[in-house]
Order: sequence, then C-alpha cells, then structure tokens
Amino acid sequence: MLKHHSHDYMPAAGHDAFLPGYDLLTWLFGFNRVHQRLIEQAELADDHRVLEIGCGTGNLTIRAKKTHPLVDLTGSDPDPLALKRAQRKAHGLIGIRFERGYAQDLPYGDGEFDRVLSSMMLHHLDGDAKAAAAAEVFRVLRPGGRLHLVDMGGDMTPDDGPTARFVLTRSHTRGNLGDAIPKLLSAAGFECTQVATHRNRGVGRLTYYRATRPGSARPN
Ligand SMILES: C[S@@+](CC[C@H](N)C(=O)[O-])C[C@H]1O[C@@H](n2cnc3c(N)ncnc32)[C@H](O)[C@@H]1O
Repeated sequence: MLKHHSHDYMPAAGHDAFLPGYDLLTWLFGFNRVHQRLIEQAELADDHRVLEIGCGTGNLTIRAKKTHPLVDLTGSDPDPLALKRAQRKAHGLIGIRFERGYAQDLPYGDGEFDRVLSSMMLHHLDGDAKAAAAAEVFRVLRPGGRLHLVDMGGDMTPDDGPTARFVLTRSHTRGNLGDAIPKLLSAAGFECTQVATHRNRGVGRLTYYRATRPGSARPN
C-alpha cells in the first residue's frame, strides 16, 4: 500500500490539506462527464445494489443516485474527511450511504452487489493491494455482476500531452498502463473488456473497463 504521511492510503487530492479543492479539480478536469459515462456503461436497473470503492467526496455515487433514484447506493473510502464531505453533499437523499472501507478488505458479504464502480481509485494502490482489491470486488459481486472502472490506463503515450508525460514517470500510475488493468482483473476471475478511451486535459488519458463476474444466475 502507498503510505502517505500518517495515512495507510493516499488521500483524494494527494494530501488532506488539498481535499477542499478536490471538487474544483473534478469540475476543471471534466470528471462530471467521465462519471456520467461510467454510469451509462454500468446500465443500472432500479433493483440494483451498487457499491463504489474509493468514493472520495461522493461525486460519482451521488450522480448515480440522482440519475437512478431507485438504485441502492453505497460509497466506501478509507478517508474519514472525504466521507464526511460526501455525507454532507448527500443530505436529504434516500437509499444512499457512505461507509469507511478499504478496497482490499471490503466490509460486505459475498455476492451482495450487482455493480461495483471505481473511478480514479486504482492508481492509488500498489501491486499487492490492487490484486487484493480485484479479489474483493469479485467476492462481493453476485455471479453475472459487473465492475465498471475508469482510470489512467491503457495506451497513454507522451503524445497525450504534458500531463501524460508527467504521469508516465510516476510509478503508481505506470502500473495501470498498457494491458495491466485487464490482466489484473482477468487474474481475479473476471471477463474484462476495454469499453472506451479518450484524452483528458487533467490526467492525460482515461480508459474505461467493464469486468463481469462469470456465471450469471439472472439477467445482467
Ligand atoms: C482521486 S480520488 C477519486 C474519488 C472519486 N472516486 C471520484 O471519482 O471523484 C481516489 C480515492 O481513493 C481513495 N483510496 C485510497 N486508497 C484506497 C483504498 N485502499 N481503498 C479504497 N479507496 C482508497 C482515496 O481516499 C480517494 O478518496
């Protein structure tokens, strides 16, 4: 796990002091649109139970609730400060909760969820934690359930711009590139597909994946 100051996780904006600016960055980097795309790819149904791992200040989970009011949503993150912000932002919404948890040790039962969402979280984990997180997501999804993940990954090259050139030098993001994410998810037992990829002015390039736990007992 990447250690950061007194934390055993890397906070949303890299440091607690920058957390208040995180939602501004989300807006500046166009992440609202990224979240909307991921929600569309997840094809949520009214009876779905959905977990977001590494929910940060809750933007993706809250957007999913607003676009699909009947879906039951849980956001989980190790960072109590981010969770507090998420809870404040979700005030008044029902069927949504934010709970403390590490992706590699999820406090949920086997097969509890129809969908797991993950946005810009995977690059916060080191190799061992990534494999453990993939196994945990597989465990908490029902057979036929799906993980939808977006992160810096896939075929990012220096041609994707100055941020990409910086990102390509960072070991924790380098570990996401090429076919690293499909390999990680396939090793955990998922059937994994790259759904889309595009440049992003904030982080260089974003790639979206769908990973299905095989063995559907009901329609996806
Ligand atoms: C860049 S933020 C993304 C937040 C949100 N998903 C979004 O798209 O706006 C990454 C989040 O991953 C969380 N994180 C770090 N280590 C984690 C772990 N081991 N398990 C789950 N989340 C973790 C951080 O606390 C942070 O909130």
